[in-house]
Amino acid sequence: MKLVFATHNKNKAIEIQSLMPSGIEILTLDEIGCTEDIPETADTLEGNAKIKADFVYEKYGYDCFADDTGLEVEALNNEPGVLSARYAGSAKDPEENIQLLLKNLNNQSNRKAQFRTVIAMRLKDETNLFEGIVIGQITFNKSGSDGFGYDPIFQPEDSQRTFAEMSLVEKNTISHRARALEKMLSYLRENIDK
Ligand code: IMP
Repeated sequence: MKLVFATHNKNKAIEIQSLMPSGIEILTLDEIGCTEDIPETADTLEGNAKIKADFVYEKYGYDCFADDTGLEVEALNNEPGVLSARYAGSAKDPEENIQLLLKNLNNQSNRKAQFRTVIAMRLKDETNLFEGIVIGQITFNKSGSDGFGYDPIFQPEDSQRTFAEMSLVEKNTISHRARALEKMLSYLRENIDK
C-alpha cells in the first residue's frame, strides 16, 4: 500500500521508510503533487495533525499520516505547546523562541516540561491518534549545538545532558517523535494486510 507522510522533507520520509513493514511505500507531499503548505489552524496538536492527514486524504485520495509536536512547560500552563514553532513570532526563529522561553521562566524554580508528539493516521474513513512524550526539565542556560528547536534547553529526565548534547541516534532512542512513531508502526504491523 501507498502511505503519504504529510511532510515536504524527503529525508524525514526516507528515515521513516526504513522503519516501515515491507509492502508499505511512503510518499512525501511533493511526490503526490502537493506543494502547498497545509494550514495548521487548530489550537491543539491533535487538531493540527488531523487537519493535515484529512487534507491529504480528502484532496488527494491517499491514506496519510501527519505529526505535530509541542513543548509543554508546566509553570507556563503548558505553553508554548501548539505554538512552539512561532512562540516568539511568525519568523519561527528558534533562537528567539529559546530566549523568550528562558525569559518567561526567569526566577521560576519549577522547570518541568515535556515534548509531546501526536501522529494522526487516516486510513480510508478511520483516523487513529498516536502520542509520544518525553519528560524533562528546561535548563537555565543553553548547552550543546546538535539538534534543532528547543534542544539546547531541554534535558530529558535521567540525563545530565540536553538533547543538543546528544547524537541523533541517542536522541532518537528516547524522543517523543520516536515514541509516537513506534506506536504507529506497531499498529500498522498488527492491522495492515498489505
Ligand atoms: P513540528 O510539529 O515537528 O513542526 O514541531 C513544532 C515546533 O516544536 C518546532 O518548530 C520546534 O520549535 C519544536 N520542536 C519539535 N520537535 C522538537 C525537538 O525534537 N527538539 C526541539 N524542538 C522541537
